[in-house]
Amino acid sequence: MEIKQAEFVSSQSDVNKCPPPDKPEFAFIGRSNVGKSSLLNMLTNKKKLAKTSNTPGKTQTINHFIINDAWYLVDLPGYGYAMTSKEKRAGFGQMIERYVLTRENLYCLFILIDSRLEPQKIDLDFIQWAGQKKIPLALVFTKADKLTRNALNRNMGIYRSTLHKSWDELPPLLVTSSASGAGKEDLLAFMAKALDAES
Ligand code: GTP
Ligand code: MG
Repeated sequence: MEIKQAEFVSSQSDVNKCPPPDKPEFAFIGRSNVGKSSLLNMLTNKKKLAKTSNTPGKTQTINHFIINDAWYLVDLPGYGYAMTSKEKRAGFGQMIERYVLTRENLYCLFILIDSRLEPQKIDLDFIQWAGQKKIPLALVFTKADKLTRNALNRNMGIYRSTLHKSWDELPPLLVTSSASGAGKEDLLAFMAKALDAES
C-alpha cells in the first residue's frame, strides 16, 4: 500500500469531539518519547506532519490525520510521563483510556516499544490492560537503528518470553526505525491487510 495523501484533521482532548467514527483508523500509543509522532511522519513521508520533540510529553491531545481520503492515522499522547498522581492511580490517563475503550472504528492499536530496553512494567501493564479489553493490537519495536541486529533479536526474545507468561498467542510484532525508514513496508502491508479484511 502507498500513502499518497496525508492531511491533519483535528487535535482533541475530548474523545467525543474526534471525527465521527465512520472510517477505519489505526492509532499509535506508547510511552512518551518512544517515537509515535516520528513514526506517523515516516509512514506518510511528511517530516513535519505530527510534531516531534527530544523532550517527552510533546503530544498532549488526540490527533487525527486522514490518509488517502479513506482512513485515519491517530497520534496519541504518551503514557507514563508527567501524569498527575490522580491520573496514575486511575491508570494510563483518562484521555487515552477513553479513546481506546470507546473508538469503535479502531482497526488496530499499535503499541510502540523502545527496542533498546528490556520489558518495562508500564508497557507490560498497558499491553495486559488493552489485551484484557479485547482491543485489536500489535507491538511495534521502535528506534531499531539505535542497536545492532543481535541486540534487537535479544531484546525481542526477552519480550516474547515475558509475554508468553500471560499470553498463549502473542500479538503481531513489528520492527521500525523512523530514522532509516526500516519497517515501513511491513507496517503499511499490515494496515492494508487489516483494511482489506474488513472491506
Ligand atoms: P510524545 O509525543 O512526547 O509522547 O513522544 P513521541 O512518542 O511522539 O516521540 P517523538 O516522535 O516525538 O520522538 C521522540 C524523540 O525520539 C525525537 O527526538 C525523535 O527524533 C526520536 N526518534 C523517534 N523515532 C526514532 C527512530 O526510529 N530512530 C531514532 N534514532 N530516533 C528516533
Ligand atoms: Mg508525540
